[in-house]
Amino acid sequence: MHSAPALLLERVERAHASGSGRFLLEVDAFAVRRGEAVALTGPSGTGKSTMLDLLALASRPTSAGRFVLATREGGEVDVAAAWDAGDLDLLTATRAVHVGYVLQQGGLLPFLTLRENMRLAQRVGGRGDLARIEELARRLGIDGLLDRKPATLSVGQRQRAAIARALAHGPEIVLADEPTASVHPALADTVLALLVEQVRAADAALVIATHDPERAARHGIEICAAILATDGTARSRFSRPAGAAP
Ligand SMILES: Nc1ncnc2c1ncn2[C@@H]1O[C@H](COP(=O)(O)OP(=O)(O)OP(=O)(O)O)[C@@H](O)[C@H]1O
Ligand SMILES: [Mg+2]
Repeated sequence: MHSAPALLLERVERAHASGSGRFLLEVDAFAVRRGEAVALTGPSGTGKSTMLDLLALASRPTSAGRFVLATREGGEVDVAAAWDAGDLDLLTATRAVHVGYVLQQGGLLPFLTLRENMRLAQRVGGRGDLARIEELARRLGIDGLLDRKPATLSVGQRQRAAIARALAHGPEIVLADEPTASVHPALADTVLALLVEQVRAADAALVIATHDPERAARHGIEICAAILATDGTARSRFSRPAGAAP
């Protein structure tokens, strides 16, 4: 029996405009199921972060045919309808409980220690588990830093802290924007192995963006490459239809 994809998008678009520059991300069909791990790849500026922001319910689609998040318990959130209705409470609550998102830069609250950042993520996600915080920190080699604030850490340490924070509440959808970009190559494998292990253990879905597809593939993460427009316009597309998923 196949459960519904954790995330299912059909005919979803997101446009960006700044000055005379325009960019359009087109998602004709994209689905990711529990137990699957997918890496978005493509040159800089091809919409990987834009795509993750959409999947994280953090940015509003310019248009959406169908956009559904299915929870482990069998519930469904009609994300397209929630954005249409301006139901930010539903989107925020859904994100807090079901999604863990490692941003490309920052994302930790600067006035809280790492431990407090993780406890807050657990609290708003409806889970309190101090032992899990310690374990994630230990696995990521930041267990000695839990009582420090983000500004006192190196970039690579902060990135690992952001990963621990995103996993702290055991989300069923884990999104990570270049999670290994700032860590030492030796740690990049540790980070990817932990992400894959955690989502497999929690029967969650993982979507990352990466400039290192070979490394992602070595960890069993499936590559989904941006398809760039060939007519010279700044458009790209990510395609992973539900039917094509194994
Ligand atoms: N807030 C914004 N306002 C205007 N344009 C934006 C905004 N965010 C992104 N863009 C533009 O949208 C396009 C896609 O950006 P995006 O950040 O999604 O790319 P990316 O694939 O993540 O790149 P990178 O590999 O450098 O992180 C780029 O042309 C970018 O300039
Ligand atoms: Mg990006």
